[in-house]
Amino acid sequence: MAPIMITEGDAVVSEIHIERGILTRVGSLLPPNPGRRRVVLLTQPTVMTQAEQAERSLSSAGYRPTTITLPDGDAAKSFSVVESVARELNELMMGRSDTIIGLGGGAATDVAGFIAATYLRGIECVLAPTTLLGAVDASVGGKTGINVGGKNLVGAFRHPARILIDVDVLEGLPASLIRQGSAEALKTGFIGDPKLVDLYREHGLAAPLGEVVERAVAVKAGVVSQDFREGGVRAVLNYGHTVGHGVEIAAGISHGEAVAIGMVAAGYVGERMVGFEGRTEHDGLIASLGLPTSSPGLERRTVENLMALDKKRDAEGIRFVVLRDIGEPMVVHPDDATVRAALAAIGID
Ligand SMILES: NC(=O)c1ccc[n+]([C@@H]2O[C@H](COP(=O)([O-])OP(=O)(O)OC[C@H]3O[C@@H](n4cnc5c(N)ncnc54)[C@H](O)[C@@H]3O)[C@@H](O)[C@H]2O)c1
Ligand SMILES: [Zn+2]
Repeated sequence: MAPIMITEGDAVVSEIHIERGILTRVGSLLPPNPGRRRVVLLTQPTVMTQAEQAERSLSSAGYRPTTITLPDGDAAKSFSVVESVARELNELMMGRSDTIIGLGGGAATDVAGFIAATYLRGIECVLAPTTLLGAVDASVGGKTGINVGGKNLVGAFRHPARILIDVDVLEGLPASLIRQGSAEALKTGFIGDPKLVDLYREHGLAAPLGEVVERAVAVKAGVVSQDFREGGVRAVLNYGHTVGHGVEIAAGISHGEAVAIGMVAAGYVGERMVGFEGRTEHDGLIASLGLPTSSPGLERRTVENLMALDKKRDAEGIRFVVLRDIGEPMVVHPDDATVRAALAAIGID
């Protein structure tokens, strides 16, 4: 299919290619860049086979790629990893016209993006997400970051010039990672694509990943292009995240599970404040993917405090994205009693 574009005004800033076997064609899919001399692949220990495919393709295209393997998962998202990679890039004499490719899950692409955004004040970045969460969310939208105490506390906006998503790789993911990513994919359906919601309704967790990713990425790319600097519309991507982040931190559960629980709370707020009529079906869909619809036992105060600290707050109070209907998100500011009732709806009281 034709690539999906992220645009800023009239300019295309990211081209997103979703294809089977695309990792074997990375070399020919780098953006045109006559000054490019070096390519460094930043990757994770779990995707060495995929990284080797990309290396072979880069070599056939005439590059001599260097691969740096990051620590797995969020252990890579630290200043010390960034420092050691930056030193290595300097030793390799990576210059302004060279290219970093981040290949792996969201943690690897977040660090690769951050390094690309900051090394020499910014060099070309290409991302090849290998998890569903990475493909539909982390790699798209230009947010990069590392953890410093708080998650993603330090970061930069940097759109990758290309995002290369290999559907074959996603189909090989273990069920737990498909479920995680499906929470975010279903979220994009809820806020922007009723047909994507239909796909999950029809197929559950077995929804065809090529179409899921195309639809989810199209929604996110559309929202990001409309609101490039994250002033307004982009907030809808936080559906399920206001409560979700609080629960994720307090309970130490995965992001996808926390977002699922957060969406249940948001469904409740939507029903109460804007007359959302589809709550039973909405919650049923979440459950049908094997995602949780209620929180592990938590103190209400803990979650409320975490929500108050979160970024999703403005002068009018805590900001909630709710649905008027599937595909019709809006932002509301519920009062304390409504927030409390929403928390009770997910078992926090
Ligand atoms: N930048 C953003 O806008 C944004 C959005 C959402 C999440 N994130 C970040 O993304 C990260 C979570 O994403 P994630 O779950 O993809 O992260 P991850 O990179 O930690 O991947 C999860 C696990 O899957 C493994 N893995 C990766 N590809 C695999 C494959 N093909 N087969 C088997 N295992 C594979 C990884 O090695 C890791 O152990 C967090 O750090 C989060 O902060 C960023
Ligand atoms: Zn998320």
